[in-house]
Amino acid sequence: MIKVITYGTFDLFHYGHLKILERAKELGDYLIVAVSTDEFNATKHKANIYPYQHRSEIVKAIEYVDEVIPENSWEQKTEDIITKNIDVFVMGSDWEGEFDSLSKHCKVVYLPRTENISSTQIKDSFK
Ligand code: CTP
Repeated sequence: MIKVITYGTFDLFHYGHLKILERAKELGDYLIVAVSTDEFNATKHKANIYPYQHRSEIVKAIEYVDEVIPENSWEQKTEDIITKNIDVFVMGSDWEGEFDSLSKHCKVVYLPRTENISSTQIKDSFK
């Protein structure tokens, strides 16, 4: 079984989120999504609208997603990959090159983002 993992905030769940999860699942058989906690986002000075509990339940309900875990820190990726026997680490192309060091543990794939949509853009459109 090929296990895939990806990370993100997934605030105001939108079409770009759906598409990256669909394409991540196509790379394997079992998809784990690490959803950033509110506390972790605060350290990034990133304010989410929906709390972790809501964001994680929405992501878990997506048919491509097999498991949701909390993302609490930048450093946990290596440990997650090793302890969960991950084969493929996936991120959107906005992170291109940032996680290449993980390639000593598993395959690292950057998928192109869906154009013209983001949580930030949705938030800004209501200002
Ligand atoms: N993503 C994507 N296409 C988009 C928006 C996001 O493929 N149009 C991907 C990101 O590359 C990431 C995952 O979805 O791998 C979760 O991204 P997240 O940062 O939560 O979503 P954004 O909409 O980019 O949020 P923000 O505007 O706050 O950065």
